[in-house]
Amino acid sequence: MPHNMLLTGAAGFIGSHLAQRMLDAGWRVTGLDSLNDYYDVALKEARRDLLLRAPGFRFVHAKVEEPGLLRDLMATEHPDVVVHLAAQAGVRYSIDNPRAYVEANLLGTFELLEAARATPPRHMLLASTSSVYGANTAMPYAEADKADMPMSFYAATKKANEAITHSYAHLYGLPMTMFRFFTVYGPWGRPDMALFKFTANILQGAPIDVYNMGDMRRDFTYVDDLVEGIVRLVDVIPGSRAAVEGDSLSPVAPWRVVNIGNGAPVQLLDFIRAIEAATGRRAILNMMPMQAGDVPATWADSTLLNRLTDYRPQTDIAEGVARFVAWYRDYHGI
Ligand SMILES: NC(=O)c1ccc[n+]([C@@H]2O[C@H](COP(=O)([O-])OP(=O)(O)OC[C@H]3O[C@@H](n4cnc5c(N)ncnc54)[C@H](O)[C@@H]3O)[C@@H](O)[C@H]2O)c1
Repeated sequence: MPHNMLLTGAAGFIGSHLAQRMLDAGWRVTGLDSLNDYYDVALKEARRDLLLRAPGFRFVHAKVEEPGLLRDLMATEHPDVVVHLAAQAGVRYSIDNPRAYVEANLLGTFELLEAARATPPRHMLLASTSSVYGANTAMPYAEADKADMPMSFYAATKKANEAITHSYAHLYGLPMTMFRFFTVYGPWGRPDMALFKFTANILQGAPIDVYNMGDMRRDFTYVDDLVEGIVRLVDVIPGSRAAVEGDSLSPVAPWRVVNIGNGAPVQLLDFIRAIEAATGRRAILNMMPMQAGDVPATWADSTLLNRLTDYRPQTDIAEGVARFVAWYRDYHGI
């Protein structure tokens, strides 16, 4: 019998890469997505259509927070593994549209947990974010650090998910891993993220908005590296073996949180130079102040990921950006 994954957010950036990887490995994947219009729906449909070429892929067009929908789906599908990536993402959008985060991130995760309580999978893995480190200044960010000062409502809903999943893991013995992703980028990426916007504007000769006057650092993670980390963690079921050094494994539940980041922060201006090199064009910089809700730097401590999976993300920024730009030109025919 092939393995069977339920993947929410399957038409999303990360979800579509993960789905393809699992299908290539012979898994059956049920991918759920609302295809909402937070960004270009045609891009989400194009990702989904590629996945539909694989006979092992089934698409469900629905919202995660629809009452009882996930419960019924899991009762029919009996997935071995559930990966929950569907969410309202984005720090800036959460300032004007906080309700979208309550619905997708809080109610949606609650519906999934209730479904898992009725039909327990072998392992559930859910997306959190480096944004939960919020106002922390000690770098690199480690899972064992306190992370109680979210700077945006987006981060607050993800932090709440970490607490809520822990309670279900404890009460119902459901093994769960929460990922803290650090600025993921690559082909088929998100139009609301800097790499996409910068590339589009640089290719058009339009200026790009550079926040905090360029004094920003991000730990960028190439999407194939991130997917490799996720795939390896699928088999690292919390509670099935003893904690490793520096583990975030809960003492009372089969639950842990794991950073997936490169562990090598890049200055924003160096990032822009990499896009200039890949496009062969000069960027016009529009220097701007810091944006509300944003943080000046992120830096992942990837020791725990490495101890658990023997893996460390490795794609460097020049190579990853070049692959994105090649995809961008091909997709847009420019
Ligand atoms: N990309 C990053 O840098 C990054 C960093 C940290 C955390 N994350 C998290 O990783 C996950 C995936 O992110 P992504 O970059 O692929 O984003 P994405 O927006 O491309 O993918 C999310 C998908 O979920 C779907 N979705 C949204 N709300 C839904 C709902 N209520 N019901 C069903 N589907 C819904 C969207 O249509 C979208 O296709 C998210 O949980 C995000 O918060 C991403």
